[in-house]
Amino acid sequence: MSSAFGVQLDQRVTDFVARPRKLLVNGEWVEAASGKTFETYNPATGEVLANVAEGDKEDIDRAVRAARAAFDKGPWSRMTVSERGRLIWKLADLIEEHAQEFAELETLDNGKPLTVSRAADVPLAVDLFRYMAGWASKIEGSTIPISVPYTPGAVYHAYTIREPVGVVGQIIPWNFPLLMAAWKLGPALAAGCTIILKPAEQTPLSALRLGELIVEAGFPEGVVNIVPGFGETAGAALAAHDDVDKVAFTGSTEVGRLIVQAAVGNLKKVSLELGGKSPNVVFKDADLDLAVKGAASAIFFNHGQCCCAGSRLYVERDVFDQVVEGIADQAKKITVGPGLDPATTMGPLVSEEQLNRVCGYLESGSSEGARTVTGGKRVGEKGYFVEPTVLVDATHEMKVVKEEIFGPVVAAIPFESADEIREKANDSSYGLAAGIWTKDIGKAHALASSMRAGTVWINCYNIFDAALPFGGYKESGWGRDMGHDALENYTETKAVCARLS
Ligand code: NAI
Ligand code: MG
Repeated sequence: MSSAFGVQLDQRVTDFVARPRKLLVNGEWVEAASGKTFETYNPATGEVLANVAEGDKEDIDRAVRAARAAFDKGPWSRMTVSERGRLIWKLADLIEEHAQEFAELETLDNGKPLTVSRAADVPLAVDLFRYMAGWASKIEGSTIPISVPYTPGAVYHAYTIREPVGVVGQIIPWNFPLLMAAWKLGPALAAGCTIILKPAEQTPLSALRLGELIVEAGFPEGVVNIVPGFGETAGAALAAHDDVDKVAFTGSTEVGRLIVQAAVGNLKKVSLELGGKSPNVVFKDADLDLAVKGAASAIFFNHGQCCCAGSRLYVERDVFDQVVEGIADQAKKITVGPGLDPATTMGPLVSEEQLNRVCGYLESGSSEGARTVTGGKRVGEKGYFVEPTVLVDATHEMKVVKEEIFGPVVAAIPFESADEIREKANDSSYGLAAGIWTKDIGKAHALASSMRAGTVWINCYNIFDAALPFGGYKESGWGRDMGHDALENYTETKAVCARLS
């Protein structure tokens, strides 16, 4: 494969997918101990895209040993914070130099439109590393005046130090493969940890290419190890490993619970960024043109494969029909097709499993009595395409309103009053994100304050920045990615107390 839809693929991309990819352990590219490989697919065609070494328990053991040695004894542990920051910055520069290549790999492996990988995934990853590069030299403790009532007259000097938590396992999903690697690696590197990264089995390629740039940037061996493989094997071994100090996970709430159970052995620290069923609330006093476009993009961006997708759409009764019609019109304007085709505005879902899952929800919606305004079906026979779908006549008892669909499917529900919406919006076991559309800024902030969600967007949606923390309340997770909050995941606080007199 060298070109498709008139797009001439970067030669390095063609070469990269043509050869079986290996694991990165202790600075070397190696086969899996078992010798096994697995296939990653092009979701636009369902055809095999590349073969990848299949990491398992033994490979995770090797990678953890390498990360432990790099943390305890390697040059990484003696590097100044300034040197550490410069290495992270250099990695950002290298990704930027190879931006087109990363965008193409991401589109081939995940399916998303090339225009999106180029405009969002890759630049956001670059920016995240640059933001975190700055933090490397700014992770500070404090000096703390203390009183100690049971040692009258004694004088102390007390302070805190924030130290890296140690060897970190990071397990990431397939919806933003490179960006999720950046969200996890960036703060862990800034804090001085060493890492074993397990990319999702559906989309391992961009993380493996990133591994090559990590080596090229000059990170010492063992600081970043990358072990692709399946969740039940490589992922489970990493989450349970007794010599891993912390595990960071992004993915389903179901697997999040398994990670917590796996961590009990050595009580490793855990951070989780899990599912969502985010409410998006449109008041009748909103700029409706903006709200309609925003609400459509809130659910259809990345084919709805966003943990924060605005999948529960609440619209004030007076404007319900108008807003739903507007979103349905937006949905009809979407061009579903292969991500490499420049005309495409929505690509395929990532895998056959996701296709079946989303189609299952479409069936469940209609059998429970929801009405399809537009969409509702698979597109074509080849590749994993689904129509952007708008459902109405949906109630809070239905699976399509309760459960995360992770596809381009929104359920629209009318509401009558601000009081009612406060309750409805929070009526979910999830608490990741929420959207509010109104020109009444007091009403917007009052509702934002009552939302049990880690992110609230007002008159916008899906706005991400390296400096803004992201994560969930309730079953949407523990801890935050991005922003300086993310550093909390990767540091321990040590209190030092010296008696002066
Ligand atoms: P998943 O949670 O199974 O996969 C995410 C990552 O966890 C992958 O790297 C996978 O290999 C790993 N994993 C799976 N089982 C594991 C285990 N027992 N121990 C350790 N690691 C394990 O998600 P999946 O199956 O790909 O998608 C299912 C649903 O999860 C989606 O429909 C969606 O609702 C949700 N999801 C949420 C994401 C988010 O961004 N919060 C991302 C991906 C999926
Ligand atoms: Mg799974």
